[in-house]
Amino acid sequence: ASILVINGPNLNLLGVREPGIYGSQTLADIERHLADCGAKQGAELAFFQSNAEHALIDRIHQAFRDQVDFILINPGAYTHTSIAIRDAFLATRVPFIEVHLSNVHAREPFRRHSYLSDIALGVICGFGAFGYEIALQAAMKSITERAH
Ligand code: DQA
Repeated sequence: ASILVINGPNLNLLGVREPGIYGSQTLADIERHLADCGAKQGAELAFFQSNAEHALIDRIHQAFRDQVDFILINPGAYTHTSIAIRDAFLATRVPFIEVHLSNVHAREPFRRHSYLSDIALGVICGFGAFGYEIALQAAMKSITERAH
């Protein structure tokens, strides 16, 4: 299975950025661990991070062209603003899970709305970096079930 893990704006600063909310692991730490988890489950993971909305959209389009099986995405603040990223998923129909490190429902009210949640297979938030692992497991289950 091929799975793309996308992280949006400011997530390149993980480890430095508000560690009380987002934890002390860097994005590289998280990606390295996730790649190992994926390898154990027979999944090949690719990783992409950008602070630019258009770059995230282009990467989703590329994943569609490459017939990637699944996307795990933490869209950062674009979660709450980006109709364009929503449209990229609607256009390509690449199945995805939305991940947030923090519990977005326990923070400022503007973080409660997502432009993606209703078209995602599911949403995981509030479990820190472990949320990506949960999402990976859920994606693998979905891919396996789809194949049967
Ligand atoms: C986030 C939550 C968003 O509200 C915020 O803008 C982020 C990170 C999270 O992982 O908890 O950048 O997606």
